[in-house]
Amino acid sequence: MYYPDEVVEEIRQKNDIVDVVSGYVRLQKKGSNYFGLCPFHNEKSPSFSVTPSKQMYYCFGCGAGGNVFTFIMEYENYSFQEAIKHLADKAGITLPEIEYSEEAKTKESKRAKLLEINKEAAKYYYFQLRGQHGELGLDYLKDRGLSEETMHQFGLGYSLKYSDGLLRFLKGKGYSEEIIRDAGLANVDEKNGMYDKFWNRVMFPIQDINHRVIGFGGRVMGDGKPKYLNSPETLIFDKSRNLYGLNFARTARKNHMILCEGYMDVIALHQAGFTQAVASLGTAFTSGQANLLRRYTEEVLLTYDSDEAGIHAALRALPVLKEAGISGKVINLEPYKDPDEFIKNLGREEFDHRIRQAENSFFYELRMLEREYDLKDPDSKTKFYNEIAKKLCGFSEEVERENYIEATAEKYHIGFDNLRKLVTTYAAKTGMATQAFRPKSGIQSKSDPDAGSKRSQRLLLTWIADEPVVYKQIKSFISEEDFTTDLYKKVAEKLFADLKEAKMNPASIISMFTDEEEQREVASLFNTKVEQLETLQEKEKAFRDILLSVKTNSFEYYSSRLGADVSALTKVIEARKSLEELRKIPITLET
Ligand code: GTP
Ligand code: MN
Repeated sequence: MYYPDEVVEEIRQKNDIVDVVSGYVRLQKKGSNYFGLCPFHNEKSPSFSVTPSKQMYYCFGCGAGGNVFTFIMEYENYSFQEAIKHLADKAGITLPEIEYSEEAKTKESKRAKLLEINKEAAKYYYFQLRGQHGELGLDYLKDRGLSEETMHQFGLGYSLKYSDGLLRFLKGKGYSEEIIRDAGLANVDEKNGMYDKFWNRVMFPIQDINHRVIGFGGRVMGDGKPKYLNSPETLIFDKSRNLYGLNFARTARKNHMILCEGYMDVIALHQAGFTQAVASLGTAFTSGQANLLRRYTEEVLLTYDSDEAGIHAALRALPVLKEAGISGKVINLEPYKDPDEFIKNLGREEFDHRIRQAENSFFYELRMLEREYDLKDPDSKTKFYNEIAKKLCGFSEEVERENYIEATAEKYHIGFDNLRKLVTTYAAKTGMATQAFRPKSGIQSKSDPDAGSKRSQRLLLTWIADEPVVYKQIKSFISEEDFTTDLYKKVAEKLFADLKEAKMNPASIISMFTDEEEQREVASLFNTKVEQLETLQEKEKAFRDILLSVKTNSFEYYSSRLGADVSALTKVIEARKSLEELRKIPITLET
């Protein structure tokens, strides 16, 4: 904990979860809960729930969940500490001086240090570009058509010809070699010792959505290799979860985003007024990035290079968009290579025109596929049509599929009935179900052998959180030791301790954990989907089953560790005893 527990708790209590989430998600009341469309994955019907009584949110679709702090962390990409500050501000609470625990201090201060050092490096490069020796870089960027204003907005910089400029600068500021290396700003080898990662390059600072510098791209000013050098991934730089330019694009207020390949493309587009442009960070477009974009838009227009590599990359990016529930389109840049060149030659109006003409992803894919076939040859043509049918099977919604069959038939001059028959035949042959798009879900897909016992443990925790009164009945049989996963055990320990003092509060238990993944998991512990049971009898049976399952698992768990763990024997004996008793005694849920 960075701040005293009471302070964290006060901030949490003064920020009602429904109020906070409502600032981002449209919620509707249903019974005692609120529901809305999950902001962390795409969905058409709401599975994102907010429970005022638990002061928690949970998505039954993707497993995202937590309390107000987690929500702000996930949505705004904040650290725990930043979320605290944000919500304290909102509630008008003045934060005391921070009280660090050793572990928290190390991790949080490392993040903060990395952010700080990246900022210093960005400033350094920025001033080099505008300083005495920056002419080369400045000329290069001007030559590429960038205005001073654009260079300033994107914080462009320059790394000098010397291989230790930044290193000396940062050391002069008191940074250790270790942190400089961990920030990815320097390399070390036996021969040369430590030296700058970037030198003699124009520098593109990479910012997260909150404008914090998390890494760099550096370009040679000629034909050298590699053309671009990018920062390695670090504690603060996750290439699959950030996009270049998104810090500006997120407020562009267009009904779409433009996704391009390069930093220069983004900058050229922004300069021309297309502030909705973003790019991935020198790696393929990922589902993490698609989900990030999904928070801001439902439509993404690709402007990848018009060469083979670009086409290939576009064909890989489109399904990723689709999977995230984003409709993809492709902008035709012919006869130019990329948006940067396009704008330079044909200007913004023409690009705007191309935006409006962007091609539907399905027809783009077909057009690219078509290139592999010779439509003058009947055999080849048949194969192509079969491929079309196969792709059409990918639409699992009937209306959508019918519409596409119609449009495709018209476009390729295939009779509608013929194409439809082809699709039906193909579907029958392969079983359409396999084609249907299935959303990724963190919970159901795990084929973990422990999944069953973990589920029982989660169910039990959820049950107790929902109906704290049952704890009285089972407390002589169940203890935190019965939760055989470390995290579960910690949660159970706190939960039971709170219950003994009759002050149970799941949302505050989440605050014990500062790691986002852990918070997510803890939230899932309190939000396991419990089957809707009608009668009291059914409920009692289900509850007993869960209890027995947890207890049996704990018994087996400790049995298997006999010999290895000295305390195991006692636990086994105890567990067996309470198992036997549990089987005998009636469990009544009525209060
Ligand atoms: P310019 O030639 O400056 O216009 O580059 P660009 O913005 O058109 O980028 P390009 O299409 O050549 O490459 C797209 C993206 O891929 C770049 O922004 C980089 O992130 C990345 N990239 C390009 N070349 C290299 C390279 O040599 N190494 C690495 N690691 N990444 C590269
Ligand atoms: Mn280019």
